[in-house]
Parts: sequence; C-alpha cells; structure tokens
Amino acid sequence: MTRMVQKTTSYERFVHWMMAISGITLLLTGFGFLYQNELGWINTVFGGQHVARLIHNWVGVVFTVSVILSMGVWLGEALSWSGEDSEWMGMLGGYLSKDLEPPPQGKLNAGQKLVVIVVVLCGLLIAASGFLMWLSPGSKNVMMWGHILHNLPFFVFAILIPIHIYLATAANPGTFRIMTKGWIPLYWAKKKHPKWVKEIGAD
Ligand code: HEM
Repeated sequence: MTRMVQKTTSYERFVHWMMAISGITLLLTGFGFLYQNELGWINTVFGGQHVARLIHNWVGVVFTVSVILSMGVWLGEALSWSGEDSEWMGMLGGYLSKDLEPPPQGKLNAGQKLVVIVVVLCGLLIAASGFLMWLSPGSKNVMMWGHILHNLPFFVFAILIPIHIYLATAANPGTFRIMTKGWIPLYWAKKKHPKWVKEIGAD
C-alpha cells in the first residue's frame, strides 16, 4: 500500500476554503463594480447592484477573518526564508527549464511562501481600505484614498489568484488533494518537499 503523509489538517483546509470562496466572490463582484459597462452582468447574476454591494461588504468580513486566521496557519513557515529559497526563486523553481535542478524545499516551496506573504499584505490592505470606505462614505478624501488602496491590491489578486489556482491544479496534478483530503503519498512529498519530510521524520 502507498504510504501517505498528512500535509494539511481539517482546520487548515477550513481556513483555506473560507479564503478561497470569499476571495473569489469578492474578485467577481469587484470586477462587476469596476467595469460596469462590460462586466456589470456579473452583479446582475448576484441579484443586481444593490444586493451585490451588500454581498461584497459582508463577504469582505468573512475574507478578513480568513486572512487573519491564515496568518496563524502559514505565516511562520513563509517567513522562514533561507538561501535555498532565494536560489529556488532565482530559477523560478525550475518550471521553465528541464535542465535546472531546484534546491530541496520545506513544507512550502519559495513560490508558495511568496504567495502567503503577498496574500497577507494585500489582504490586510484591501480589508482596511474596504472598511474605511464602508464606515466613512461621506468624506471625499477617504473615498479617494480608499479606492486607490483598495484597487491596487485588487489587481495584484486578480493576477496572482488565477496563477495560484492553475499551479495548484492543472500544472501540478495531485496538488489539489492537499485542499480536499489533506494527505499526499510519501514518495510525492519526498520529491516536492524533502526538507519537510526529514523535519517530521517520515523518511
Ligand atoms: C478554488 C480555488 C483555489 C484552489 C483550487 C486552491 C488550491 C490550493 C492548494 C492545493 C494549496 C496547497 C498547496 C501546498 O500546500 O502545497 C493552496 C494553498 C494556498 N492558497 Fe489556495 N487555492 C484556491 C484559492 C485561493 C484563494 C482565492 C486564495 C487567496 C485569496 C488562496 C490562498 C492560498 C494560500 C496563501 C496558500 C498557501 C501558500 C501556497 O501553497 O501557495 N487560495 N491553495
């Protein structure tokens, strides 16, 4: 029988699905608000502009909680950056060339560590600016700065999240089960995250 190793707990998977469902809902409604002429139909699907606005604000609360919880799940690992991580980034994980052998990685590879850091920083900024605009809608200055500080991280997410989903599904078959069952074959973990397998003494 194939030996398996646990990559995520049910709590970690819960936090990730909370972030994924709320984040994607916010991206879709956000696109509907930004490009009303071209993509306004998205918010018609959500029940019209008024309902979409309510959904956007309250789902924003869920997303904010998920960002805060995700800091407990991933930030410690993401901030444990080593020389091997810089080397991995330098060759983009060897994804673009078969001749490059990327250095061994821990529980998260350097690209995933970067995703965590960007998601946390952009998540906190998008949440703070969103609450600012929601709670003080009268002030022109607040609305101007609020929009700038909301839209910049929005575009980062709009580019990063489709790449993240592609890398976690079609580009690396087998990865998605980390978000469903949480267990992966040991041989696969040894190949992708050898330092982590050693750390937990599963080799
Ligand atoms: C349905 C869409 C999504 C899928 C299929 C997906 C899939 C995954 C998978 C498989 C992992 C685990 C990778 C590993 O441990 O090796 C992961 C981790 C992660 N996901 Fe997602 N994800 C989705 C949406 C999102 C969204 C919307 C966000 C943020 C707004 C997000 C943020 C993260 C972060 C920060 C991590 C940890 C770092 C990383 O592994 O890249 N995910 N995701």
